[in-house]
Amino acid sequence: MAVERTLSIIKPDAVAKNVIGEIYSRFEHAGLKIIAARMQHLSRERAEAFYAVHSERPFFKDLVSFMISGPVMVQVLEGENAIALHRDIMGATDPKKADPGTIRADFADSIDENAVHGSDSPDTAAQEINFFFGPDEVCPRTR
Ligand code: PPS
Repeated sequence: MAVERTLSIIKPDAVAKNVIGEIYSRFEHAGLKIIAARMQHLSRERAEAFYAVHSERPFFKDLVSFMISGPVMVQVLEGENAIALHRDIMGATDPKKADPGTIRADFADSIDENAVHGSDSPDTAAQEINFFFGPDEVCPRTR
């Protein structure tokens, strides 16, 4: 299996619940390495740009308002099959449909406030990583 990188966001609801460490622990136990990380409070313009692909969806305005409602923790995860593995750990978009033991089943309250984001393909991962991090901010593990 290929070593991949994926973009992860711990959303404002999960940051407010003080579970960043618990979520990081799940990444690490699954073998995913955190190779870049930053906490930030997104501007409306940045959140709209990040979710531009969803701009015609009915939930777009609410999604942007939620994502700027507090700080987010953004990280790059690296590991074998990282994109699919990370999405497995996150669970389904709607926490009511998420498998027990997934991040969304354990920490998300609704489909609108669902705790975490993860890239869904290699192309999206590359774009999303570049959206948040410059090359000097990503630190591949050498050991
Ligand atoms: S869908 O519905 O399966 O097509 O959703 P998806 O393309 O995977 O992601 C849509 C992003 O919008 C967030 N979001 C919602 N999706 C669906 N319905 C509602 N009401 C909704 N509210 C917010 C969803 O979490 C996805 O964002 P990310 O950041 O990728 O989780």
